[in-house]
Amino acid sequence: MNRRTRGWLVGFATVVAIQALRMPVRNERAPGGFAAPTTVQSAVRAACFQCHSEHARWPWYAQIAPVSWFIHAQVGEARKRLNFTAWKDYLYDPGTAARKFGAIDQMVRSGAMPPWYFRALSARGRLTPAQRAAIESWAIEGRADALKAESH
Ligand code: HEC
Repeated sequence: MNRRTRGWLVGFATVVAIQALRMPVRNERAPGGFAAPTTVQSAVRAACFQCHSEHARWPWYAQIAPVSWFIHAQVGEARKRLNFTAWKDYLYDPGTAARKFGAIDQMVRSGAMPPWYFRALSARGRLTPAQRAAIESWAIEGRADALKAESH
């Protein structure tokens, strides 16, 4: 066996071995919670739910280690900061709602969200300018309403 073949075999065996630690994305909570006008709803479901909700459905390549480790970590981090499955809970507190709406507007406006690697991997991540605009104005309005509610 030459060195190159051995290298490939070791690489292959490593990829097989690490599958024991796949860490797929798990969805724990029941669906529900997030409501918004239709355009916003469908754009957010397509472009954000994979990371920011408990209704993620990742394709096969995301289930394979070490890709699954990366995705698992990203989704964990993303859900901690913004979880659309907990959207109703955010709305109970106007201060929280205002912060979430504000952060969404900022991230979508700056183009930071959805992240570049998701846009590269998935057509769902590529929002049209109209979808971006719809999310932004929804978030701006939501923030303004929340701030109004907070000051009462
Ligand atoms: C591929 C995974 C992924 C997708 C898809 C994604 N995000 Fe994120 N998002 C993250 C991660 C990871 C973080 C935390 C780290 C960071 O800020 O970069 C984050 C952070 C955020 C934050 C910051 C929250 C805070 O309080 O700091 C907001 C707001 C946000 N995302 C909104 C969105 C919106 C809106 C979409 C859809 C248009 C979206 N994200 C799509 C992974 C994702």
